[in-house]
Amino acid sequence: MTLPAQLQNLRIPLIGSPLFIISNPDLVIAQCKAGIVGSFPALNAREKDGDPILLEQWLTRINEELDRHNQANPDNPAAPYAVNQIVHRSNGRLERDIEICVKHKVPVWITSLGARVEVNEAAHSVGGITLHDVINDKFAHKAIEKGADGLIAVAAGAGGHAGALSPMALVQEIRAWFDGPLFLSGSIATGDALLAAQAMGADGGYAGSAFIATEEANAEDRYKHMIVESGASDIVYSDLFTGVWGNYLKPSIAAAGMDPENLERSDPSKMNFGENRKKPKSWKEIWGSGQGIGAVKDVVPAAQLIDRIATEYFAAFERLSGQVGRYR
Ligand SMILES: Cc1cc2nc3c(=O)[nH]c(=O)nc-3n(C[C@H](O)[C@H](O)[C@H](O)COP(=O)(O)O)c2cc1C
Repeated sequence: MTLPAQLQNLRIPLIGSPLFIISNPDLVIAQCKAGIVGSFPALNAREKDGDPILLEQWLTRINEELDRHNQANPDNPAAPYAVNQIVHRSNGRLERDIEICVKHKVPVWITSLGARVEVNEAAHSVGGITLHDVINDKFAHKAIEKGADGLIAVAAGAGGHAGALSPMALVQEIRAWFDGPLFLSGSIATGDALLAAQAMGADGGYAGSAFIATEEANAEDRYKHMIVESGASDIVYSDLFTGVWGNYLKPSIAAAGMDPENLERSDPSKMNFGENRKKPKSWKEIWGSGQGIGAVKDVVPAAQLIDRIATEYFAAFERLSGQVGRYR
């Protein structure tokens, strides 16, 4: 199946994934101008009581800056942006945020932690598409039944809330019945890995952790440098911090006074994305990351990271094309 218009004409087939707290308009605009889909969780736009609604301001700015870029660069237009909605009962802002995204005609909607028909209908009402993130084939079926246009397969090794399945197994099972847009999430931080996602059967990749170590990202310098200095064996998979299984940086857990090698199990009913969720710990002090960060060697502007991934992607393509005919 051909990709929806929103996902055609990207510079490389990559989505910069939504990162709780970390993704902000600066990062999204930089990603889109560099030719990949940039995204942010609606929940990141959090105003103080009585202040103007920050999500409105963010969407106005992103739309205006990308329009300006497109007028000035008709031959090199920006990729579209995406807004992530956490479709979980504890997200008391969901309806308000959907209304705002409809008003600003958000082109790509990414939904996580729950598939709901109304969210897909809202996106479609303004010509948008929805991509739903899933960790297994059962949830993939549910998402498509509820009207999602495409899927993000979140495999083992992804940052934040991650699955436990091999990317090869997950993509293979979904592709057996679904020929719509499919993006692979988990440890993609190089152009080689991006091409591998396509070789497996996905339309493209979905990368988060590598973008934490960018100048635009809203993360403390210590977090950015921990990403640069860490590798796959510095990541632990735990359900302790949010009630959902996810991948975290061991040094951040040790810094919070816990032993990352001996973490307790958690209670899923504790999961809470509402205003009254318990700080500290999850996300603010316990830092999420996927396993692919061995490829991240420096904190750089997002455009420079995307240039690197693009260069590697085309080089990998050439390398493999040169091998056509070597095997029968
Ligand atoms: C710190 C952090 C925060 C995240 N927050 C969100 C979020 O708010 N919503 C969401 O759908 N996914 C979230 N994710 C998951 C990512 O969107 C994506 O699936 C993941 O980063 C991809 O794997 P990678 O980090 O190995 O590239 C988060 C991931 C990280 C590392």
